[in-house]
Amino acid sequence: MLIRLIYLSQAVGPQTAALTDSILRTAQAWNTPNGITGVLCEGQGVYLQVLEGERGVVTRLYARIHADPRHADLELLHCEAITERRYGEWSMAHVGLSDVDPQTKIVWPDFDPYSANGALVMARIDALVAQGRRVRTPSS
Ligand SMILES: Cc1cc2nc3c(=O)[nH]c(=O)nc-3n(C[C@H](O)[C@H](O)[C@H](O)COP(=O)(O)O)c2cc1C
Repeated sequence: MLIRLIYLSQAVGPQTAALTDSILRTAQAWNTPNGITGVLCEGQGVYLQVLEGERGVVTRLYARIHADPRHADLELLHCEAITERRYGEWSMAHVGLSDVDPQTKIVWPDFDPYSANGALVMARIDALVAQGRRVRTPSS
C-alpha cells in the first residue's frame, strides 16, 4: 500500500546550504532505490517534508528522520493512503524558502500548518513548489 506522509519540524541550528545539500544527498541516495519520492521545503527555521512510498518503508524512514538531531519537535501533519504519487518524478525535490518570494512564509497568519487539515497543507506545499525558483533534485 502506498502512503503519503507530511510532517513539520523545527531546525536545530542554522539551515546552511551545506547542511541542506548533505540532507538532500542522503535522501537521493537512499530514496531512489527504496521507492521514496517527495518534497523537502526548508528555510525560515523549519522543515516541511512530504514522503511518498510503501507504507512500511515510509514508516521506517520517518522513524529515522524523527530521531535525526538536526531538527526537533516533529509534528505529523498528515498521513493518507494514495493510489498515485504526486511528486513521482523527484527522489526528493527541494524548495528553499529563501529562494521564493521573501514575503512567503510557511507559517502565515492565515495558514497555520499545525491546525490546517491535510488538503490545505498539500495546497500550500503545491503553491511553494510552484513559486520555488530552485525546485530540483540534488543531482540537477
Ligand atoms: C529534514 C530532514 C529530512 C530528511 N529526509 C531524508 C530522506 O528523505 N531520506 C533519507 O534517507 N534520509 C533523510 N534524512 C536523513 C535521515 O534523518 C538520516 O540521517 C539518514 O536516513 C541516515 O540514517 P542513519 O544515520 O540512522 O543511518 C533527513 C534528515 C532531515 C533532518
